[in-house]
Amino acid sequence: MQGKFITIEGTEGVGKTTNIAFIQNWLSEKGVEFSSTREPGGTPLAEEIRSLLLTPRAETVCDTTELLLMFAGRAQHLNKVVVPALTMGKWIVCDRFTDATYAYQGFGRGMDQKLIAHLEQLVQKELRPDLTLILDIPVEIGLQRASQRSTPDRFEQEKVSFFHRVREGYLCRAAENSDRYVVIDASKALQDVQTAIRNALEDFYLKSQRKFN
Ligand code: TMP
Repeated sequence: MQGKFITIEGTEGVGKTTNIAFIQNWLSEKGVEFSSTREPGGTPLAEEIRSLLLTPRAETVCDTTELLLMFAGRAQHLNKVVVPALTMGKWIVCDRFTDATYAYQGFGRGMDQKLIAHLEQLVQKELRPDLTLILDIPVEIGLQRASQRSTPDRFEQEKVSFFHRVREGYLCRAAENSDRYVVIDASKALQDVQTAIRNALEDFYLKSQRKFN
């Protein structure tokens, strides 16, 4: 049986790291075999591309360059890591995926959604996540949290208005395709956030078992 592909999304400072650890624990308790990975990145080559994308630099990165680098890393990651694992029946927990491209490059940078969809089809063929958890938080709170972590990367240096567009992008996608997405209010207390995540996972797990039986 093909494994399940779960992606975690959100703007900066939503608490992805803490909540991915929670998801990993939940899967282990269920006895589900899984691998955790991230985008951009996930293979040595794709991690090099990540570093190209995130490192602040004097030279302006063209929007098209940024978009193609995202999909170049994704092609490598899918072929080397994600597809082989899913084929073996393993679940994948991925910190960001193509919804981030729609949100950041599409809504954030204003790139054509149809062009993104075209590249998505080229690189992924029919592969789409089975479940996407969008951790949602008011932009200012998230940026405040993120700023306490480390020196800002190239994306974190963007203006607040950029992240407002990104957040809107995520929420629009969730509203348009409600069966794949669960939006989690990440501004609540951690315990409440994790209760909501657990409920979403239990629901998804039950549905995937029913389909199998
Ligand atoms: P993070 O994984 O540490 O959150 O950093 C990755 C950054 O890359 C984040 O600011 C979002 C950005 N990104 C895109 O702009 N497009 C994409 O397709 C992906 C996967 C990430």
